[in-house]
Amino acid sequence: SRIPEVEELLSKMTLEEKLGQLNLSSGVGDLKVVTAGEGPIEYIKQGLIGASGGYESQKAAVNDSRLGIPLISGRDVIHGYKTTFPIPLAMTCMWDVDRIEKMARISAIEASAGGISWTYSPMVDITRDPRWGRVAEGAGEDPYLGSKIARAYVRGYQGDDLSKENTIMACVKHFALYGAAEAGRDYNTVDMSRISMFQNYLPTYKAAFEEGAGSAMTSFNVIDMVPATGNKWLMTDLLRDQWGFDGFVVTDYTAINEMINHGLGDLQTVAVKALKAGVDMDMVGQGYIGTLGKSLKEGKVTEAEIDQACRRVLEAKYKLGLFDKPFQYFDEERAEEVWLSEEHQAYARELAARSCVLLKNQNNVLPLKREGTIGVIGPLAKSKDDMLGTWAATSDTTDIVTIVDGIRNVAGDKAEVLYAKGAYYTEDPFLMNRKRAKDDQISVSPEDSKRLLEEASEVAQKSDVIVAVLGEPRSWSGEASSRADISLPESQKRLLRRLIETGKPVVLVLSNGRPLTLSWENENVAAMLETWHAGVQAGNGIADVLFGKYNPAGKLTMTFPREVGQIPLYYNHNRTGRPETESSNFTSRYLDVPNSPLFPFGYGLSYTTFKYSELRLNKKELKADESLTASVTVTNTGKYKGEEVVQLYINDPVASVSRPVKELKGFEKIELQPGESKQVEFNISTEDLKFYNSALKYDWEPGDFNIYVGTNSSELQSGKVNWQL
Ligand code: IFM
Repeated sequence: SRIPEVEELLSKMTLEEKLGQLNLSSGVGDLKVVTAGEGPIEYIKQGLIGASGGYESQKAAVNDSRLGIPLISGRDVIHGYKTTFPIPLAMTCMWDVDRIEKMARISAIEASAGGISWTYSPMVDITRDPRWGRVAEGAGEDPYLGSKIARAYVRGYQGDDLSKENTIMACVKHFALYGAAEAGRDYNTVDMSRISMFQNYLPTYKAAFEEGAGSAMTSFNVIDMVPATGNKWLMTDLLRDQWGFDGFVVTDYTAINEMINHGLGDLQTVAVKALKAGVDMDMVGQGYIGTLGKSLKEGKVTEAEIDQACRRVLEAKYKLGLFDKPFQYFDEERAEEVWLSEEHQAYARELAARSCVLLKNQNNVLPLKREGTIGVIGPLAKSKDDMLGTWAATSDTTDIVTIVDGIRNVAGDKAEVLYAKGAYYTEDPFLMNRKRAKDDQISVSPEDSKRLLEEASEVAQKSDVIVAVLGEPRSWSGEASSRADISLPESQKRLLRRLIETGKPVVLVLSNGRPLTLSWENENVAAMLETWHAGVQAGNGIADVLFGKYNPAGKLTMTFPREVGQIPLYYNHNRTGRPETESSNFTSRYLDVPNSPLFPFGYGLSYTTFKYSELRLNKKELKADESLTASVTVTNTGKYKGEEVVQLYINDPVASVSRPVKELKGFEKIELQPGESKQVEFNISTEDLKFYNSALKYDWEPGDFNIYVGTNSSELQSGKVNWQL
């Protein structure tokens, strides 16, 4: 249904003004790109820009342009605005959608006071390749968990009334399949079967749209060899006609122009393709503002097509309340009150702790005692900047709590905390010069490295326990930050070897933006805690975990491979006719590494231990309208209060198409006091058995099903049921 105010406005607009609404913050003609801060005021006054940031820009649009149409102001607020939370991948390890929703709510509350009405989030690209730097921004490899998280973000940003001053519009990105870039190299091509697309990659976007997300961003890649940005099947047939999406679609940054490189034609041609595909707004590239007028004259597009795109942009502005209150998102008083408020900081600390995943804890080295001498060593131990992770342009950079400071804050008076940097992030000039960490240098002299190592040795010798803080600077993950080698760089490994040689217990605290290969480290250190890039309160949250103020409960949402050569490696993989067995050589396996990962999807330890009872299934034979209850009793058999994520997986052993070995279909996070038991029940219906068949029909097929429940995707108990029509 159309909005009368928007229709009336449309009827008054000139062609230039309509094209202006489709133009996101760029100069006109001179390719002067303005994406942050104020837009080009003169063009705004002429009505040639529809989306831009800044108060002065909004004033120019509202007060000085002919029709006074307000600007929509978008920004990459993906894990907090001023209060930066852990990177999205980290937060997904909480397996806690309510807490992610609250994080998105806080992000909206802060961003909306700073002039932002639209966030380029959630990023819901499913990915199976940790080489890809943008895994940091998403929810990992699983579509079931990813869909729940996608919905949580949308609810958090948009609230229940998008026109309120403290809610902002979500932009679901990158539509679609961007996370499947070949070989994990950003912006690379994508090629996949339709079944896999529908089964594994599209559900998260669909979930976000069903939750009411107001906008979508195109991806840079091709889908069935047609770039997403010019793909009518994707943007219209699927998104609008099948899924019923009625919001607007913006391109990713210059994605229309990039179709020239994809080999689809010149700028005028690709701009026509994008418009006809159903793409409404052109981010920065000026393909629309620069060529659609000519295309209209030449009969290559119709005025109705331009109107439709313009209508969708205006409708978004209307839904946001921008026509009534164009300045409601600029509120200094509210900003003062909410930016980095005590409450938000406390929440950032809580999420930093909750996002940690305990990978190893030999002889219960952790939690650390708040006494003796603790040597905190490593290039990430004192780094502020890296704690923010990717996309944190709006973040406050003064208040970041480093890991060593957090340890000092929580260690108490009886402990002495020593620090040494120990090593540079890397000494590899290629990596260093490609993506330099802020406080690293262009080239490193062997003498400097030696000196750092000696200093670290001295600190280590004086320490009772060593906390080695290693990983990746923030610049090594995120956009355009793929790595072919995802191990710790040699300089950091050398440091770690030296620390281990002291014979002191070494706790490896990892701070990074993607799964790493850690086989050697896992063999040789006493404990490993994955903390990711944990946000403004990183140090405090991580220290809460290290000293046991919070018992870690995070579980991985991406598989950690043993070797980079195993990638893509993910838990819900398809079957093969020759599964790995010991008895035959001619099976699907490597000669040099096992097929299994180092740490599987869903894995994460606790300071306490949990015992699972036998899996109980209330029925063995079911009819279509019946549901199955799978239950287990989980008991905390250790000394600490703890939380456990109980996971449900299903496998369909015989079907018309070869189905994955297992798929996540449910989870519940429970908290147990020492000695306490709780029963966890999963209700399973035929909805949970559905899949896309060769005709792309989403349905279930009668027969046997394997039901698995357990603590991670590899350690599961199983039962079998038979389900008939
Ligand atoms: O939102 C981002 C997108 O994820 C990557 N390219 C730039 C956009 C706007 O900053």
